[in-house]
Amino acid sequence: MPARIRESTELRTMFFELTLNVMMRMIAGKRYYGDNIADLEESKRFKEIHKETFKLAGTPCIGDYLPLFKSKKLENMLIKCQRKRDEFMQGLIEEHRRRRRGSGHDSETDRKNTLIEVLLGLQESEPVYYNDEIIKGLMLIMLLAGTDTTVNAIEWALSLLLNHQEVLEKVQKEIDKHVGQERLIEESDLAQLPCLSNIINETMRMYPPSPLLLPHESSEKCVVGGFHIPQGTILFANLWAIQNDPKLWADPTKFKPERFEGVERGRDGFRLMPFGSGRRGCPGEGLGLTMFGLVLGSMIQCFQWMRTGEEMVDMTEGAGLTLSKAQPLHAKCRPRPIMFNLLSQI
Ligand code: HEM
Repeated sequence: MPARIRESTELRTMFFELTLNVMMRMIAGKRYYGDNIADLEESKRFKEIHKETFKLAGTPCIGDYLPLFKSKKLENMLIKCQRKRDEFMQGLIEEHRRRRRGSGHDSETDRKNTLIEVLLGLQESEPVYYNDEIIKGLMLIMLLAGTDTTVNAIEWALSLLLNHQEVLEKVQKEIDKHVGQERLIEESDLAQLPCLSNIINETMRMYPPSPLLLPHESSEKCVVGGFHIPQGTILFANLWAIQNDPKLWADPTKFKPERFEGVERGRDGFRLMPFGSGRRGCPGEGLGLTMFGLVLGSMIQCFQWMRTGEEMVDMTEGAGLTLSKAQPLHAKCRPRPIMFNLLSQI
């Protein structure tokens, strides 16, 4: 394999496609991006729906709070998009259902442990609870809540590393020592890579993907931080402010992954909580952390990463309720010579 430098790759799109492939493989055993797509027409439909969904998700609905600004046009677009999405998801459920009915339970495809397959199994014993609406809701939330957050986290982490080459070298050495060059980094390695996990924590401290968590509503009156909150109040917690508070963190604006050395699982009281906390905390924490660790870890293991020029990566934050980079990350990379052998077998 030639050690060709790949000139200025735009990474956000690639991270999105990868994360969506991971999600869809879990949900339905399908991938819609990259090579060897089984059904091109279906993949095209999924891509269109996904593009529209994220475009609309990023459009602020001021009318939800100030009825004067209600937009019928936006509402109709949302309804239309939801119909298309619903039809697509229902199609996937019917496909699984036909397969279950047609070939019994022991064909190779049936044995694929997809989310739909498992939920349809549960539907047989508890049809009211695991109805199709619930299944579609779960499929949708995985695609909506699990992709944007994970992509942003990975993009911020690589941007920070490109601006801190000494940290990048340190974590590469850690991965080389623990994982080596005979195999790719695996899920079970993650717990043995403290430097990588410190980078993950420090990235999500500085750039929490959900900086205001999700809106919470008080089910009864309570006191938060000395403020009396009446029942039924929508409350936003400013996670970004907590995680960047100079009273809680030394040099909060500095990227210092080593600050997490020796901290049990990165949890340090309620100072760091990129996944929220308590009963309504993120249920996808384990999956999000695994994807984050494996994607970042394998990129560092296999490639040498460089900025596109002398200037530092622009770390300006974009607008919106999730914390994304204002400018998508571009970087140069080249396969590491010590990884040629393994990469040529993939
Ligand atoms: C790095 C990745 C991720 C981050 C940083 C993240 C962060 C968060 C945060 C901060 C919340 C709000 C918690 C609160 O308000 O207390 C949340 C909620 C949620 N997340 Fe994640 N998340 C990530 C990945 C995922 C994944 C992979 C999934 C699913 C596959 C997921 C599904 C959800 C769901 C369903 C909720 C709503 C929970 C509820 O309202 O009870 N997230 N996430």
